[in-house]
Amino acid sequence: MGTEAFVAAVGASIGAERVFAGDGRYATDWTGRYSVPSCTVVRPLGTDEVAAVVRLAIEHTVALVPQGGNTGLVGGGVPHRDEVVVSLEAMRRIGSVDTAARQVTAEAGVTIERLHEVAGIAGLRYPVDFGARGSATVGGSIATNAGGVNVLRYGMTRHQLVGIEAVLGTGEVVSHLGGLVKDNTGYDLGALLCGSEGTLGIVTKARLRLVPTPSHRATFLIGATDLDAAIRCTTALTSALDCVDAAELMIQSGVDLVTRISGLTNPLPDHDAYLLVECSADTDPTEAVGRIVSGIEGIAVVAASSAQQRRDLWRLREEHTPSINSLGAPIKFDVTVPVRAVPDFVRALHSNPTVVGESRSLVVFGHAADGNLHVNVVGAHERDSEEIGDAVMTLVAGFGGSVSAEHGIGVAKKRWLSLSRSPTEIAAMKSVKRALDPFGIMNPNVLFD
Ligand code: FAD
Ligand code: MLT
Ligand code: ZN
Repeated sequence: MGTEAFVAAVGASIGAERVFAGDGRYATDWTGRYSVPSCTVVRPLGTDEVAAVVRLAIEHTVALVPQGGNTGLVGGGVPHRDEVVVSLEAMRRIGSVDTAARQVTAEAGVTIERLHEVAGIAGLRYPVDFGARGSATVGGSIATNAGGVNVLRYGMTRHQLVGIEAVLGTGEVVSHLGGLVKDNTGYDLGALLCGSEGTLGIVTKARLRLVPTPSHRATFLIGATDLDAAIRCTTALTSALDCVDAAELMIQSGVDLVTRISGLTNPLPDHDAYLLVECSADTDPTEAVGRIVSGIEGIAVVAASSAQQRRDLWRLREEHTPSINSLGAPIKFDVTVPVRAVPDFVRALHSNPTVVGESRSLVVFGHAADGNLHVNVVGAHERDSEEIGDAVMTLVAGFGGSVSAEHGIGVAKKRWLSLSRSPTEIAAMKSVKRALDPFGIMNPNVLFD
């Protein structure tokens, strides 16, 4: 029946101040590539209010886009037509840390950074970490099954999820937050909602795993004469040590762009490829790392000697995304290939005339140990995005990779879902969507056409 009646009904139900006209902060995605002029935003304060909003959306046939920090990179968290944004940003309560069970319950709007702070005060760590931590939320990171820099040691967000509370597309609330480590009682709805990108329901709370904080942490910038040496170094470290938290790959063009824009100094200039490696253990891992990499040709190493130098090395890596975006919204790909195939895959990208043709340039970086590369095509027109994507994703499929490593499908990658999932799998996913979102109101433009 339409948005106006819906807005009036929501105002009557949870308060007129909870529903308003949203500007770019809600209607444009982080890269600026996806945008509508304005949208209606509902900002509930708790699960019951979210459930009331979903039930009214069903009644008034209004589509909803759940939104957390709006840092998603596949256009999944913003409206594309007349969908209403359900912003979870006001739902920021976080429970006390259960240090014995190493768990905490947080509402969907809690930022990843806040989660790190609360876990740190209790002497623990929330293992998922990535550059958008200041805005990205618990709900959004569950919906996208966010990865980040510590996946090789601690897994994706799905591995941290011990319990969930959510409002399904039916308007019903599921709540399972007891935190029992062994609880094999039927389908794992949390695991199903994790990675569903707002297409099955709205996550309102989660029970999350925390891990101990080892007493020693060492951070290294490793310069390599070429990608092959960088990947040899990655696999030598990850196969010999179980204390590697992060092994992040950068290429000279990206590091040069970041140093040019940020003014940071590259302590190892003139290397083709770089690794940012971080290890944490109860004994200092520096000697072990030094011994392993000293045996690899074409490698130079700098160990961070202060907290400031550690922060600067991480800035070299984490300022890739904003630096690239400052050149104009890139056509972004977030793909996985087998780790051993990374050098050949990157070389194939650089020699593909569709990917690097005309005035386009390529900036590649990513999570080396996961084989997860972020391929950014700069200077391309939106109208060429499908042709460029076909070229990139055909290469990915040829290397036996995945068309989306950690950002999800959103609207940006729908065209290539069938390269990574079979028709049977996609049909099964659509059956789940019909069961949990029978009225088709949950993020209808995302994941499937
Ligand atoms: P939003 O952008 O608000 O939404 C993302 C998706 O989740 C949308 O489909 C939305 O509908 C859905 N959603 C949001 N909240 C809910 C909810 N409560 N219930 C149901 N659905 C919901 N991602 C990585 O995986 N690894 C990285 O290393 C990484 N680094 C990044 C670095 C930068 C600088 C930036 C800008 C982004 C990065 N991202 C990374 C992408 C992004 O931060 C993640 O996808 C993050 O999980 C999105 O969280 P969010 O709260 O911003 O979600
Ligand atoms: C990262 O690892 O920095 C992110 O996934 C963001 C990006 O891909 O740009
Ligand atoms: Zn990433």
